Amino acid sequence: MLDIKITKTTAPKEKPADSVLGFGKYFTDHMFVMDYDKQNGWHDARIIPFANISLHPASTVLHYGSEIFEGLKAYRIADGSVQLFRPIENMKRLNSSAERLCLPEIPVEDSLQALLAFVKCEEDWVPHSEGTSLYLRPFLFGNDEHLGVHSVNHATFIIIASPSGSYYAEGINPVKIMIESEDVRAVRGGTGYTKCGGNYAASNRAAEHAAQKGYSQVLWLDGVHRKYIEEVGAMNVMFKINGEIVTPMLSGSILPGITRKSCIEVLRSKGYTVHERLLSVDELKEAMANGTLEEAWGTGTAAVVSPIGKLMYEDQEYVVNGEKIGEVTQMLYDTLTGIQFGKIADPFGWIVKV
Ligand code: PLP
Ligand code: COI
Repeated sequence: MLDIKITKTTAPKEKPADSVLGFGKYFTDHMFVMDYDKQNGWHDARIIPFANISLHPASTVLHYGSEIFEGLKAYRIADGSVQLFRPIENMKRLNSSAERLCLPEIPVEDSLQALLAFVKCEEDWVPHSEGTSLYLRPFLFGNDEHLGVHSVNHATFIIIASPSGSYYAEGINPVKIMIESEDVRAVRGGTGYTKCGGNYAASNRAAEHAAQKGYSQVLWLDGVHRKYIEEVGAMNVMFKINGEIVTPMLSGSILPGITRKSCIEVLRSKGYTVHERLLSVDELKEAMANGTLEEAWGTGTAAVVSPIGKLMYEDQEYVVNGEKIGEVTQMLYDTLTGIQFGKIADPFGWIVKV
């Protein structure tokens, strides 16, 4: 159990209108901060006014990228209360990322307590309009003040929050995705299954090339054979081929998405066959060419369930489902957002009230 000290801001900000939110542009009045050192473990848990942080110029995170993060949302439901979707999964994944990067783990009951206390403090910032939420960004970084490369003795854990709308400008309309054949994102044995900052830094070049050609994100192929479909920049990916759902298996190089896991559970509960397996780009190309690819979509906290309308591979563009949202994609979007916003029952026990 953490002893969380709360210092309230004396200068609360004006809240932006829901219509201008976008994703990750505005920040709330406070942040949660907690420090770690080898002697004292995690200590000094506090909620303080949102402000810049000060780092020693030799801080580990600035040189060697010892940083991991999570992403989840707080939703405002019709009765005005606020709830979270599967936050324990995020806190467990934070620890899995920490273990890989030799950063200190946080007992899940403590990180959950921190998250709930922080959201309670920022409750007024959870927006009210349809499709908006308070995006929560917990992050943890190594903060030793010298230049040796070693595992971390000092670390900092922070949670910030950003009232947000749609991640993609397209909203729920189909996005265009480019299959990347030059750069790779991750390999088995590396950090692909973690949410570490470096994975995203290494993806930027391909994302920029894709953007120049008019595509929203890249679809990565595996780093060894450059043959098997992995995931999109900020989403896992699923396909409906010949009536059945296929999604890349968790091989160690892709992020074990909580939205992915939730979609699989919803699909199976509704009687769909879901295959978690290797899916080669050749198999996908053939399914696109012979019309057996019926739907494609991405899944992620920020993006929710996002239909893919066009896929580009080796200079050839394939249109998926006439660039319209498909039936299964729509069902998943409606079911997940229905549970998240409390519009439908939660038979899975995923919701945690704030
Ligand atoms: N894959 C990557 C690379 C991501 O950044 C994300 C977003 O968090 C996802 C997949 C989806 O994961 P989740 O559904 O847990 O948000
Ligand atoms: C999320 O979906 O929460 C993400 O982390 C995506 C992000 C990299 C913007």
